[in-house]
Amino acid sequence: MRVDVDPDVVSRREFYALLNSVVVPRPIAWVSSQSADGVLNLAPHSFFTVACVQPPMVQFTSVGRKDSLNNVEATGEFVVNFAAEPLYEQVNASATNFPPEISEFEAIGVHPEPSRTIAVPRVAESPVAIECTLHTTLELGDSTVVIGRVRHLALDPSVMDGDHPEIQLLRPLARLGKDEWSTIGEVRSITRIRHSNWPDHFTPPAP
Ligand SMILES: Cc1cc2nc3c(=O)[nH]c(=O)nc-3n(C[C@H](O)[C@H](O)[C@H](O)COP(=O)(O)O)c2cc1C
Repeated sequence: MRVDVDPDVVSRREFYALLNSVVVPRPIAWVSSQSADGVLNLAPHSFFTVACVQPPMVQFTSVGRKDSLNNVEATGEFVVNFAAEPLYEQVNASATNFPPEISEFEAIGVHPEPSRTIAVPRVAESPVAIECTLHTTLELGDSTVVIGRVRHLALDPSVMDGDHPEIQLLRPLARLGKDEWSTIGEVRSITRIRHSNWPDHFTPPAP
């Protein structure tokens, strides 16, 4: 027996809450952008992932029309700042629905740091910045997918082990359902099995 839910029967809000609770954990893009008038903006987006490997692209989704989307459309630029655990309170506070003329940078007390390749600044306190130019937007119902071409990746040496980022140093935050968030839990490593080695270390079910 399962609990069956038809998106055409329950309300938008109800289905959104359910879907958000099962597509978890979601990484958080802490998106900095700038309005045409130069007001800096910062907002978390957990509908976020890598969109393309070569050329490198990332994507986030604006549910409805928000300042971040307006700014990215106006300037063609944004930065995805890494939402690290020590920034928990600030990341959440940046989701407050401030009017467009208020900069979340000032309101929540984080500092802009110049980007290397675009005019939109990074968050100085965040250990990783992905500088992007707008590749395309895709309108889907009530939401808009924003796809950015990655122009530069800036990493703080404090999160690196040699030349690679280390998960225990990055300490990512993630979004769950309801008002729940998670931090990094147990980390496991397993190698992918090539078909030529099948079943290798995997024990297939008995026929
Ligand atoms: C952790 C977290 C993740 C969020 N993810 C999204 C998202 O993926 N898409 C979205 O439209 N809003 C998301 N929100 C809500 C926006 O951050 C919020 O509406 C914010 O005020 C938008 O700011 P802006 O108008 O300055 O762009 C999220 C909020 C939080 C706290």
